[in-house]
Amino acid sequence: MLTACTGSRPKYVIGVSQCSEDIWRDKLNNELKIGTYFYDDVELRFVFADDSDEKQIEQINQFITDGINLLIVAPNQVATVSPAIDKAFDQGIPVIVFDRKTNSQKFTAYIGADNFDMGRLMGKYIATKLNGKGRVLEIMGLKGSSSAIERHNGFESALKAYPNITLVASLQGDWTEESAVKAIKDYQGDLTNIDFVFGQNDRMAIGARKALLSLDSCLLTPKFCGIDGLPGEGNGIDCVKDSLLEASYIYPTHGDEVLQLAMNILEGKPYQKENPLMASLITRDNANVLLLQNEEMVRQGNNLDQLHQRSDAYLKQLGNQRIVLVLAIAFIFLLLVLMVITYRYHLQKARIAEERTKMEREQLDFYTQVSHDLRTPLTLIEGPLSQLAETKDIQQAGAEASGLFAIIQRNTHQLTQLINKMLTVQATGSIDDLNASHQESALIESTTKTTEAEQSLTDSLSTVLIVDDNADIRAYLRTILQDKYQVNEAANGQQGLAIANEIVPDLIVSDVMMPVMNGLEFCQRIKSGTATSHIPVILLTARALSQHQIEGYESGADAYITKPFSADLLLARIGNLLKSRFVLKTLFVQEHNKDHEKASNTPQTIIKEDAFLLKFHDYIEKNLSDSDLSVETVGAELGLSRVQLYRKMKALTGQSPVELLRTARLQKGRELLQSTDKNVSEIAYEVGFTAPSYFTKCFKDEFGVSPSDL
Ligand code: FRU
Repeated sequence: MLTACTGSRPKYVIGVSQCSEDIWRDKLNNELKIGTYFYDDVELRFVFADDSDEKQIEQINQFITDGINLLIVAPNQVATVSPAIDKAFDQGIPVIVFDRKTNSQKFTAYIGADNFDMGRLMGKYIATKLNGKGRVLEIMGLKGSSSAIERHNGFESALKAYPNITLVASLQGDWTEESAVKAIKDYQGDLTNIDFVFGQNDRMAIGARKALLSLDSCLLTPKFCGIDGLPGEGNGIDCVKDSLLEASYIYPTHGDEVLQLAMNILEGKPYQKENPLMASLITRDNANVLLLQNEEMVRQGNNLDQLHQRSDAYLKQLGNQRIVLVLAIAFIFLLLVLMVITYRYHLQKARIAEERTKMEREQLDFYTQVSHDLRTPLTLIEGPLSQLAETKDIQQAGAEASGLFAIIQRNTHQLTQLINKMLTVQATGSIDDLNASHQESALIESTTKTTEAEQSLTDSLSTVLIVDDNADIRAYLRTILQDKYQVNEAANGQQGLAIANEIVPDLIVSDVMMPVMNGLEFCQRIKSGTATSHIPVILLTARALSQHQIEGYESGADAYITKPFSADLLLARIGNLLKSRFVLKTLFVQEHNKDHEKASNTPQTIIKEDAFLLKFHDYIEKNLSDSDLSVETVGAELGLSRVQLYRKMKALTGQSPVELLRTARLQKGRELLQSTDKNVSEIAYEVGFTAPSYFTKCFKDEFGVSPSDL
């Protein structure tokens, strides 16, 4: 498709209709062709009529059909061919007539030498050569062709001025050499004593020469002259040079000028209708020069031809490069399209993958929710049942037993309802329905939750905070824990956080899936709060997958127990965690005592709450001498309330802040007693005691010796 573009019809198609094919016309055609080198987009179409009028008419008609842009024509015979030329002209095709003429004015321009004048000049030349006296023979060109008629008329008109010159005959030829030979041979008249033969062209002059010289009757050696004066071996100029012809006349071809005229017409530039070409005589005097000149012209012509061929080759190359370029651009374009398609395909794939992950996540959430919903009532059936199983006398268990039975009953009912819902979901495929119904039941539960009772702080029992949105779970946990621990409850993370900050429990048991604030966030907030960071958290949940457990531990949980759980396991885990706290407390005290022995001021970092303890210790150290230093002041410094500080310090060290403050004062007092000369009273005041007697009493209690003994 792309290469086809380069073969499209040129802008101008010029038809050249030649009446015959011979060297004169070859020269003209060649010059026309060279003329096109100076124009883009011009095509010459040559046709040759072989001296046939019919053929030429046919060829001109074909040109008209083809829709040529301009016709250059040399009509074979005036009368017969002219109508065809008229037709082309009438159809709007510009017509240039050259060399020979038509018999109408229906042409755009004429270009050629003046044939009448040439005939006349030849007549005059011969007459001069014969000194106005002699016998002359004329061989005429094709009958009916304008050039033959005009040359004859010119020749005759010239000879009229010389009464002693006789035109013996004007024999009919047809421009060919053979026609001249034949004409002479066929001539019946007297051809003896002919002085000069005028061939209307060189070819016929040569033919006449051959024929005449071969005649036995020829007594004289006549002289010959012709017209055309073509260069090249055996042609006019050569014959003049070799004295075969006396003279010739250059009948100019000037193809380049013919083309120039055609282009002027086509491009709407100014032009002349009549364009005469100059002719000139060739004799032995100038034949050589003309030959040399011609050689030079041929050489230049060849150079021009070569240049043209090269430029043609370059243009072809350029054309090929253009095709390659177009193909490359097309390829790049296709590549880009392909890239865009691939990119969009990948985007879509990623979107599908994302949607699938989302669906899987939703599915997992759904099943987690379902398992949570199932595990909770299961826990509340299994737990109370095993508790009741251990009760020897159910009758005696009284209120507690009936409470447990009520829980079992409620949760059996809840379980049945859940299973029914699940079956409905399976039938309709609506997960949303179940989620909605779950949210509904959660809402009902949260509205029926118990309000938190303010618990007084006692040192005897450890405090456990239960955080769960399910009231039955809270009730059940309370029955498990209440014998050993002081139990507090909260219905969601947010409530739990408020209570934890207020009472600072020793341990927290929390559900994960809860409204308002879930257990993971709750745990994180507990672990990042100054007052609560030390509290162990057990996550109690239906989310049994290890991925869920990891999430739980990442939120800072100390233990993870899945539902349904055994009450004993929970109690054991709680006991363990509280005990490990106690070990830590003991360890701290031991380290602290070791510090006393080493008389070091820096407590060792043995638990993760060190930073807090260090801050507490440093502050006390710096403000020891201030007798007004109170627990409130220290708490405010550390960002805690009196209760919070008390609970935290007790949990971490086993001692109350007041005790720790007094210990620090006494320890400093001992140091001063040992290292200074100050008396007991002075030292007592220095370490913040308001009465030396009270200092002495406390000192004795702490170290077993009286300060005055030291
Ligand atoms: C070429 C030719 C020439 C002659 C001219 C006349 O076809 O025969 O030899 O001079 O035509 O039209």
